[in-house]
Amino acid sequence: MNLANVLNSYSDEYWDFKDAKNDGIHSIANYPAPMVAPMQHELLNLLLRENQGYQKMLDPFHGSGVTLVEGQSLGLEVWGMDINPYAHIISLAKLEKYDPKIIEPANHQIIQRIENLKKSNLAIHHSFDNIQKWFRDDVIDDLRIIRTAITMESNLKTRRYYWLCFGEIVKRYSNTRTSTFKLHVKESEKISEMQNNVLEDFFNKIKETYKLIGYPKLGPFHLTCGDSIEIMKTYKPNSFDIICTSPPYGDNATTVTYGQFSILQLLWIDNNDFQYDSNCVDNFSKIDSMSLGGAHSANNAFYYSPIISSYISQLSLHKQTKIKRFYTDYENAFRLMTRLLKPKGSMLLTLGNRMVDRLEFPFIDVNKEIAQYYGLELIHVINRNIMKKRMPIRVSRLSDGKPVDSMSKETVLLFRKGEH
Ligand SMILES: C[S@@+](CC[C@H](N)C(=O)[O-])C[C@H]1O[C@@H](n2cnc3c(N)ncnc32)[C@H](O)[C@@H]1O
Repeated sequence: MNLANVLNSYSDEYWDFKDAKNDGIHSIANYPAPMVAPMQHELLNLLLRENQGYQKMLDPFHGSGVTLVEGQSLGLEVWGMDINPYAHIISLAKLEKYDPKIIEPANHQIIQRIENLKKSNLAIHHSFDNIQKWFRDDVIDDLRIIRTAITMESNLKTRRYYWLCFGEIVKRYSNTRTSTFKLHVKESEKISEMQNNVLEDFFNKIKETYKLIGYPKLGPFHLTCGDSIEIMKTYKPNSFDIICTSPPYGDNATTVTYGQFSILQLLWIDNNDFQYDSNCVDNFSKIDSMSLGGAHSANNAFYYSPIISSYISQLSLHKQTKIKRFYTDYENAFRLMTRLLKPKGSMLLTLGNRMVDRLEFPFIDVNKEIAQYYGLELIHVINRNIMKKRMPIRVSRLSDGKPVDSMSKETVLLFRKGEH
C-alpha cells in the first residue's frame, strides 16, 4: 500500500492523539506551541517505511526541537534553525546529550560552589534594564549566585547544560504572568506571596534533567541559530529527503511572541557559551521583530497567491501591512524549502488558520496554493483537534481591546516533490 492509502486508512480522530503527552525529553524546558511528539514520530515513521532511502531531514523553524528529536530517534541526520536563541539552547541540549559520568560529579561541585557563594556573598554582579521590575531582590541575589557558579564551571558542554536548567528557574521565579506569552507583570500581591526556593529548585533541576535527555548521542545533527531564510540560501539545492516543520502562522508580535517568552531567560544566560548574535537581546521585542513578518522584513514575494490578495483587501490598512510582510517572508522561506527538497522528497507542514480583524487568515489554503505553484503534489491532509491546551487561552487582543481566542484545530499537509 502506498503512503496515501495507508494514511487514508486512519481516521482523523486518530491524529488527535487524545492522551499523548510531551513527556520525557520533551518536558525538560518550556517553549510556546510545541508539536505533539508521538504524532510527529508516527508520521515520520510512516514516511520512512515507504521511503527507505530517506536520510536527511530539515526543520527550518525548529522551536523546542520536537521534530528534530523524533527524526533523530528514527535514525535521520537532522538539520535545524531557529531565530530564537532560547529555542536553540533547548534543542541543542536535547540533541547534544550529556554523559552522566561527567554531569554527576559536576553537579556535586556546583552545588558545593553555590552553597559557598551563598555564605560568602561573593557572587558576581549581573544586571540589565528593569531587572527589578521582573525579579524580586532576593530572587536576583540567588540567581546571581547560580550564574556565578555556572561561569566557574570549566567544561563548556557542562556549562551549556547548566544554562538550560538555569533558564527554566529564571522563568519560574520571574514576575511575569504565566497566562500569556507576552511579558506582563503579575499583581504585586502574587509577587510577594511567591516562596523563594530558587537554589533548591535549581539543584533538583540539574539532578533530573540529564536523565530525561538520555545518553549517548543518537546521530549527527546540525543546529544554527539565525534567520532560516538567510541560512537556507547558503545550502545546496536538493539536499534534504524530508522537510518537516511547524512554521509561525503569522508575525510573532501579534500571534505567539516566542521572543518575549524567552527574553528574561536570555538576559541571564551567558551568550558566550553559544553561537548566536548577542544583539538579539538588545530590547524586549527584538527577537519578535527579527522573526518572520516582523519589522525587519525586507523581502519581495516571487509568487503572489490569489487567496492572499483577496484576503488582504478585506483587512484594515494596519493589518494589511502586517499580513503582506508576513506573507512575503513566508513565501521566501517556502520557495527556499522547495529548492532544498530532493526530487521525490517529502514536506510535512503542521499549520493553522488564525483570526486577524475577526477574519480567518486562510494560511492552510495559502500553503496549498504556494506548494502547487512550486510544483509540489499534495499527498494527504490531516485535520486534527488540539487536545492539550499548548497555548494560553487568549493569545492576543484586537485594537478595541477584545481578546482573541487561541486555535483549537490544526492541519498537517503532506507534499511530495516530483522526480525532476
Ligand atoms: C511554531 S514554532 C515551531 C514549533 C516547533 N516545530 C516545535 O515543535 O516546537 C515556530 C518557530 O519559528 C521561529 N521563527 C520565526 N521566524 C523565524 C525565522 N525567520 N528564522 C528562523 N526561525 C524563525 C520562532 O522562533 C519559533 O520558534
